[in-house]
Amino acid sequence: MTTQAYRASILHFPKQSHSPKEDYVYFEDGLLVTRNEKIEFIGDYKTHINQCLEATFMDYSGKLLLPGFIDSHLHFPQTEMLASFGEQLLDWLTDYTFPVERKFADYEYASYIANIFIKQLYRHGTTTGMVYSSVHKAAADALFQEAACHNMLLIAGKVCMDRHCPDWLQDTPQSAQQDSAALIEKWHNNGRLKYAITPRFAPTSSVEQLHALGELAQQYPDVFIQTHLSENLKEIAWVKELFPERKNYLDVYDHFGLLRKGAVFGHGIHLEQAEWQRLQESQASIAFCPSSNLFLGSGLFDLVKAEQQNVPVMLATDVGGGTSFSMLKTMGEAYKICQLKGNQMDPMHGLYLMTQGAAVGLGLENDIGNLNPGTDADFVILDPEFDELSVLRFENQRTPQDIIFALSMLADDRAIMATYVAGKAVYQADKQVLKGAH
Ligand code: GUN
Ligand code: ZN
Repeated sequence: MTTQAYRASILHFPKQSHSPKEDYVYFEDGLLVTRNEKIEFIGDYKTHINQCLEATFMDYSGKLLLPGFIDSHLHFPQTEMLASFGEQLLDWLTDYTFPVERKFADYEYASYIANIFIKQLYRHGTTTGMVYSSVHKAAADALFQEAACHNMLLIAGKVCMDRHCPDWLQDTPQSAQQDSAALIEKWHNNGRLKYAITPRFAPTSSVEQLHALGELAQQYPDVFIQTHLSENLKEIAWVKELFPERKNYLDVYDHFGLLRKGAVFGHGIHLEQAEWQRLQESQASIAFCPSSNLFLGSGLFDLVKAEQQNVPVMLATDVGGGTSFSMLKTMGEAYKICQLKGNQMDPMHGLYLMTQGAAVGLGLENDIGNLNPGTDADFVILDPEFDELSVLRFENQRTPQDIIFALSMLADDRAIMATYVAGKAVYQADKQVLKGAH
């Protein structure tokens, strides 16, 4: 048994909230106690430190301890193609994405990138990702294997696509179903790992493949589902052409049984009212990917509309459509999109969407997303004063809202001091704790 005590300013959302601006809990001088992989206690430092004199003590006074960030939509094979110039979605996929994803047929190569990918997550304070692998079964195996090495709660799936992409990247309805089923059997609920059935998006799956994946979803009711939805206007027009018998884009997935709680749809920028309605009824979620939406010129997501429609939203980087692994920066981009829509996203709202709000949307709030006793000890230590400019910025203003907001605009991985997964340090600034596998 290892018991560890951490002193820091501690901030989290203990419950599901429709008003994160009010519902956060903040201990300016706080104490977090972990025992093995779990959180045992959270409270005020001075009142409670005498009760845990046995614990190993870590003093992060003046630093900020938050739940580990949850990135609810990103692509691990796209790590190496971040920031590729020009193009909007469909050409970008053809010119950059597909050629890169081809390399992931090779298990060794996929393991090499998986190691870099997970180290990038940790150095940016992200402890859980909902991740697209490539079409290859071996690449998904490599990613799960890497996450398993350090007990990470990772949700991932093999991409399924059997048309409208190069033939060297295509699976079939049968192989998509069989390979996904084998990966579910091997990895879903293996330790902290979870599986997501992952049709890339409607245009790259035939009716037969969508049907096969719907069957799989029915066979495994507790696995997650992830795909893209209503990201780009040309994409939407293409879906209408390919599926003229369906009412709208979401109805394609709905028809094949791929719409339910635990399904996360990337983007959802240009939704019709009927789609909002079905999302709400099904309790599926949207992954809002602001840096990707700006980078690929896809459009401005309507966060206020989503809230009004009671559709759960999570924040996500969408690496490599997104341009950074940093969830702090991603939150900053979300704020700017809201500004262009005429609204100001409260900083606590932004933080909620990448911690507890994401966990609630995924049904994982008993494990991650908050710092409640009994949950997994996934958390991050931030140093708000990480450079000369931030020292100046925080000289007179230290409310938790202001710190979070300014960090979302000014910070990136430079503000991350340490990242803990299941009670263990997996990243410490200037010291890569996680061993490289290669
Ligand atoms: N739609 C289908 N595939 C992708 C992808 O890899 N990235 C993004 N942003 N959108 C997609
Ligand atoms: Zn994506």
